[in-house]
This record gives sequence, structure tokens and C-alpha cells, in this order.
Amino acid sequence: MLELLPQDIDAYCRSHTSAEAPIFKEIIDYTNASESNPQMLSGYLVGAVLQLLIRSLGATRVVEVGSFTGFGTLKMAEALPPEGEVHALELEASRGHKIREFARQAGWESKVKLHIGPALESLQELAGPFDLAFIDADKENYPNYYAACKALIRRGGVIVIDNALFSGDVLDPQQPAARAIDDTNTFIADDSDVANVLLPLRDGLMIAQLL
Ligand SMILES: C[S@@+](CC[C@H](N)C(=O)[O-])C[C@H]1O[C@@H](n2cnc3c(N)ncnc32)[C@H](O)[C@@H]1O
Repeated sequence: MLELLPQDIDAYCRSHTSAEAPIFKEIIDYTNASESNPQMLSGYLVGAVLQLLIRSLGATRVVEVGSFTGFGTLKMAEALPPEGEVHALELEASRGHKIREFARQAGWESKVKLHIGPALESLQELAGPFDLAFIDADKENYPNYYAACKALIRRGGVIVIDNALFSGDVLDPQQPAARAIDDTNTFIADDSDVANVLLPLRDGLMIAQLL
């Protein structure tokens, strides 16, 4: 995982970003205690950007590809209006149970729609339009997730892709995951259907808006 920010700068950013509801500390603590790769959790900066996008777009329907322990899911649920829905696509049923538990605890259960199974299959079952997609699952499928999400997103809607720098490996991609991310980044930069920016935020955050 690329850590671009020195710790003191990260702490300063955190203390000058909107405070988080207590549920997010619970999710982080649970993830650190129970998951072997807790760094997969997206974190407060990515979460805050997702919330800003959701509020700016007036989004009511969003989809997350790869939900892990629910940090991004609940960040998005919090920012959505009461009738809004976040469709959380996650392979592991046990993680789905935990997300449901956290959503219930936070009082946002009605906004969280879980889809357990391979995300590519779940995406085929969803009907658009969606306002925002957050892609954050298995990297080899990023080109497929981008294509599937693009078909679901309305004009003006946004696709956000996490780990777009993949620890810097995109500069000289040797592994299938790095190659898939690099291919996706290149495809998006050349895609005349979208305007995009690749932000050096945490491990790289690609944001593409459908024109
Ligand atoms: C980086 S984590 C997601 C982090 C989460 N978005 C967050 O904000 O904290 C990736 C997740 O994708 C899930 N995943 C991997 N392959 C998948 C697939 N084919 N379909 C659905 N989920 C998948 C993993 O089980 C894992 O929970």
C-alpha cells in the first residue's frame, strides 16, 4: 500500500476533515482485530471524498464493488438521503453479515442492500441508473468492473476506483493485478465518454465522470 503522506501531515489532514461518527472507529477496530489484511479498508480520506461526491451529485443510488468490513459502504450510506440506497457487492458472506450488523447499529440498515457473490454476476443483475460506483474489489477484474459500472451510471454520474496507483506498481506493471489497473487507468484516460482525474490520494484514487 502506497503511503504518500508523512504521518504528521496525515494527522493534520485528519484533524481538519469532518469528524467521523463513532461507528467508523468500531469498524476500524473490528477490522484490525479480525482481518489478516486490515489495510484493505479504504479509510477516512477516501470515505470523505465519497461522501462529498454523493452530496454534490445529490446521489440517491450508489454501488460499491467489494465491501470488505463495510467502511466504504457505511460512509456512503451516511451521506445518502433517507430514501437512498447503497448496493454493496461482496464475495464473502461472513463479511456481509458483519456489514449488516454495523449498518443496523448505525441506524442505516434500510439504505444498505447487500449482494453476496462474485461482483461481476451481481452487477449483471442490477438495474440502473446509478449516480456513483465505487470499485474496490479484485484488481484483475478492474477493466470488467469499469465496463459494467459504466453501463449502470447515468450521465453526470461518477465512477471512483481505489488503489489506482497500486503501491506505484502501475509505473512498471509486472503482475496481472498491476497490469489490469494500469490498463484501466489508460483506458479511462483515453475514454472520450468521461472526464477524469487520477488523484495521488492514499494508494491512488481515480475519479471519472460520465459526460
Ligand atoms: C479492498 S477490499 C474493499 C474495501 C472496502 N471497499 C472499504 O471501503 O473498506 C476488497 C473486497 O473485495 C472483495 N472481493 C474480492 N473479489 C471479489 C469478487 N470477485 N466479487 C465481490 N467481492 C470481491 C473481498 O472479499 C474484499 O472484501
